[in-house]
Amino acid sequence: HEADAYRTDLMTITRFVLNEQSKYPESRGDFTILLSNIVLGCKFVCSAVNKGEEQKKLDVLSNDVFVKALVSSGRTSVLVSEEDEEATFVESSKRGKYCVVFDPLDGSSNIDCGVSIGTIFGIYTMEHSDEPTIEDVLKPGNEMVAAGYCMYGSSCMLVLSTGTGVHGFTLDPSLGEFILTHPDIKIPNKGNIYSVNEGNAQNWDGPTTKYVERCKYPKDGSPAKSLRYVGSMVADVHRTLLYGGIFLYPADKKSPNGKLRVLYEVFPMAFLMEQAGGQAFTGKKRALDLVPKKIHERSPIFLGSYDDVEEIKALMVADV
Ligand code: AHG
Ligand code: MN
Ligand code: MN
Ligand code: MN
Repeated sequence: HEADAYRTDLMTITRFVLNEQSKYPESRGDFTILLSNIVLGCKFVCSAVNKGEEQKKLDVLSNDVFVKALVSSGRTSVLVSEEDEEATFVESSKRGKYCVVFDPLDGSSNIDCGVSIGTIFGIYTMEHSDEPTIEDVLKPGNEMVAAGYCMYGSSCMLVLSTGTGVHGFTLDPSLGEFILTHPDIKIPNKGNIYSVNEGNAQNWDGPTTKYVERCKYPKDGSPAKSLRYVGSMVADVHRTLLYGGIFLYPADKKSPNGKLRVLYEVFPMAFLMEQAGGQAFTGKKRALDLVPKKIHERSPIFLGSYDDVEEIKALMVADV
């Protein structure tokens, strides 16, 4: 196993990214510096979570820490956070070529009961280095150069893709370093778990209802799927990535665009899923092909194992 080779030859996330970036001769370490500031934010939230910080404080605190770490990196120009109505434009003296979209604390309803929560992020580069505009982040997910999440669970794990597969790093608290423990994660082609807030079932559309019905009463004689739903996207997607299966937050009569936000929830997770060999579908098209018009725009999402997403796609297509 590749990870075993690093038992004594510690592959920290910084070393890993430096190795990856050295393939590009023009690389000057900017991405590594940016990422190390994201990592700092994740370590802060991890430590705050472990101290039992309460929800109200933790939301605001996490956002402040990420915004300040990203601005001070000197490598960003535009920041979009779930917690801020407006985008942050970095002052000219501190600007760099990256734009970061993020959900500093995902699964906030789970904070006060100690259930897993997370941070989600996606990274774009600016095409031109003159005055940054909102257009620099209103770009399809397939233009992201990197995406990832950090899960604050029984262990603290950071899962990252820079477009060359998906790699998982576990925080070693005594070292204060994220160490490569899950190299090149691939999602199983088919899984036996479905993950959805079934309390919304009365408001679902036909294809979603049919799909979930099939999870429970398969037509082809295969065993029924198990239901798992944490209610923290990071935790539900993390399990889906490792075990396979499907995570869905569909449209419903009350929320025609679903609940999850395109830029900092749907895109990063869709990016990771595709990089791991899975799929992410909006109900109409490939999630990464969406072009957001607003920074807090929402979209329905169906993501996970390749074959499981194929099934919902077929039902959606048959419906129109
Ligand atoms: P956030 O805590 O960042 O506002 O996001 C909550 C999201 C996401 O984590 C999760 O998948 C979803 O809300 C759960 O929604 P329901 O409670 O409607 O199932
Ligand atoms: Mn969220
Ligand atoms: Mn959030
Ligand atoms: Mn929220």
